[in-house]
Amino acid sequence: MTDAEAAAELETLAAEIARHNRLYHTDDAPEISDADYDALIRRNRELEEAFPHLVRADSPSRQVGAAPAGHLSKVRHALPMLSLDNAFSDDEVADFLARVRRFLSLPADAELALTAEPKIDGLSCSLRYEKGALVLAATRGDGTTGEDVTANARTITDIPQRIDGAPDVFEIRGEVYMSKADFAALNARLLAEADDPAKARQFANPRNAAAGSLRQKDAAVTAARPLRFYAHGWGEASKLPADTQLGVMQAIAGWGVPIAQDLACFTDLEGLLAHYRSIEAKRADLGFDIDGVVYKVDDLDRQRRLGQVARAPRWALAHKFPAEKAETVLEAIDIQVGRTGKLTPVARLTPVSVGGVTVTNATLHNKDEIERLGVRVGDRVRIQRAGDVIPQVLENLTPEADRPPYVFPDHCPECGSEAVREEGEVDVRCTGGLICPAQRVERLRHFVSRHALDIEGLGITHIEAFFRDGLLQSPADIFRLTKAQLLSRERWAEISAQNLIEAIDAKRRPPLDRFLFALGIRHVGEVTARDLARRYTSWTNFRSTIDSAIDARAALPQALGETDEKHRKRRNDAAAAVIETPGIGGEVAGALSDFFEEPHNREVLDDLFAAGVEPADLIWETKESPVTGKTLVFTGSLETLSRDEAKAQAEALGAKVAGSVSAKTDLLIAGPGAGSKLKKAAELGVEVIDEAGWNALVAAAS
Ligand code: IVH
Repeated sequence: MTDAEAAAELETLAAEIARHNRLYHTDDAPEISDADYDALIRRNRELEEAFPHLVRADSPSRQVGAAPAGHLSKVRHALPMLSLDNAFSDDEVADFLARVRRFLSLPADAELALTAEPKIDGLSCSLRYEKGALVLAATRGDGTTGEDVTANARTITDIPQRIDGAPDVFEIRGEVYMSKADFAALNARLLAEADDPAKARQFANPRNAAAGSLRQKDAAVTAARPLRFYAHGWGEASKLPADTQLGVMQAIAGWGVPIAQDLACFTDLEGLLAHYRSIEAKRADLGFDIDGVVYKVDDLDRQRRLGQVARAPRWALAHKFPAEKAETVLEAIDIQVGRTGKLTPVARLTPVSVGGVTVTNATLHNKDEIERLGVRVGDRVRIQRAGDVIPQVLENLTPEADRPPYVFPDHCPECGSEAVREEGEVDVRCTGGLICPAQRVERLRHFVSRHALDIEGLGITHIEAFFRDGLLQSPADIFRLTKAQLLSRERWAEISAQNLIEAIDAKRRPPLDRFLFALGIRHVGEVTARDLARRYTSWTNFRSTIDSAIDARAALPQALGETDEKHRKRRNDAAAAVIETPGIGGEVAGALSDFFEEPHNREVLDDLFAAGVEPADLIWETKESPVTGKTLVFTGSLETLSRDEAKAQAEALGAKVAGSVSAKTDLLIAGPGAGSKLKKAAELGVEVIDEAGWNALVAAAS
């Protein structure tokens, strides 16, 4: 590479990275994945190392502290803003209906009505009206806390300042979106207004444009953006105007707030699916992006009984449209090294629009996938994109072309260690462990990421720079950073340094679930971390259980003739039996045991505790009731409730449901046909009630 070529690339990188910083931090509309952003940073660094005399005054590597802190104030939602479970096939919709019926114990001939309406690809927003006046508009955020966008929402013509005839408190929830035509016109306008067209701000799709436009500090900017709104539900309400989903939506429409035109109610699978197909057929002509159809149980009392699991209601389902496909050229294959050393091949593509989104990268998953597809650099490929998931390469369209095959690396591109594939595994992993800088940086990055410790102002740019300069090695180092250290660095001033130190201090007692997730244990995602935190509530309980699981596992020697694989599975199942958490099987139990058995991980944890980090106990919000903290057992058949519903009710009241009667049982709910459990309860003197008694208890407590 010549000096001139390097200088040109450094210039492009500086502009690109600055643009992505702005998109990410200021506009909340990132156009590339974190991994791709990292790759840009890394490329910039490589070039600067090779051409130190070409480092630019505005180089991204000099701009630590570039991220302006979130400028909109946070608001806690009165009721959480939920997300939706997805279905991709008719069968999954049928399963959903069956699940709902089972949960509600509906007889086969009972009618089950559901509404169906388009799922708009926008950004959800909650509008709070008090005595008819709009008092607060908030984005969804993480579902519990969002951002205050009241001033901005007031500029959207679809959103009335006042609604007449509504209850005293009523939160309308819906989607802020932008039509495809308005999106195209906005991009054209931004291009025309830019001093340098090459650097003009352009939105990748209507959704990003809507998000970037709503989350503006200056409401005048929002006012100049053609945003629309349509309601699809509600949050807190002092009173409901109807007892069905359809009825409430019609009332909302009556108050002058737009609702979906294609909202309708059906009583069978065929009706729902026919509506889905008719909406799908209209999709291209709608004028705005939709990505599926949402079904909701119509009866509100049934919705209440069904409740929610994790972050999604049991009474609703998003039936997604099939993935959209496109063709383009595979320009290069890059290898990314993940937190656990996994080498992931990423296809760099000639940019192509797939259903309104510009795609430049797609995952190739692993070595086998590259071989299966037979793709080589230069091939024409078919790709697909579905919702928020990373686009995938589906097919090689030019398999016959005369090109050299792609050779998967046998060494880590980041640290040069050998990269190996263990038996029975699909992934090739870097064996460098913590000597691999990519793995270490990825771990740190995961630790502070949004769903983990979420340290505001400590983004990947800082992590990389601090890591490079030896300021950060392991997570505990974050908590030892001092203001003086920050101030001694270029571009850090009193206020920014103070802000970061305070943001770090604020995370010294992270909630247990976030802390578990932050550790980056294999197979422990957000949901598993939450399940574990719910089950164990405190770090001490959790740790001692894992130690017992490790002991239980160690106590099982390999049986004669037992294969390694079988033995491993039997040991992990033993660990799972000790961890005893719904949804956690041998694989996760094995990963947990492996993690906590590993001396290095223990050191990292000890170090974190030494640095003053202490996970906070999980306080599960439940209603105080006569059964809070009690252990219940259900037996015999229940007539008005399914087992699932009964269990959900008990858990909502703070009780634990066990499978068998023991000295620890506080209450037995016995239906007709109860046998041995009832007998045992009598022997142990456990209190027994029937289903009617249980229903009365639930009614009194709610
Ligand atoms: S109902 C309690 N209905 O999709 C269920 N959501 O993937 C809350 N969305 O966060 C959502 N169109 O922002 C519902 N007709 C519709 C929707 C819709 C778009 C969004 C909403 C939600 C996300 C979940």
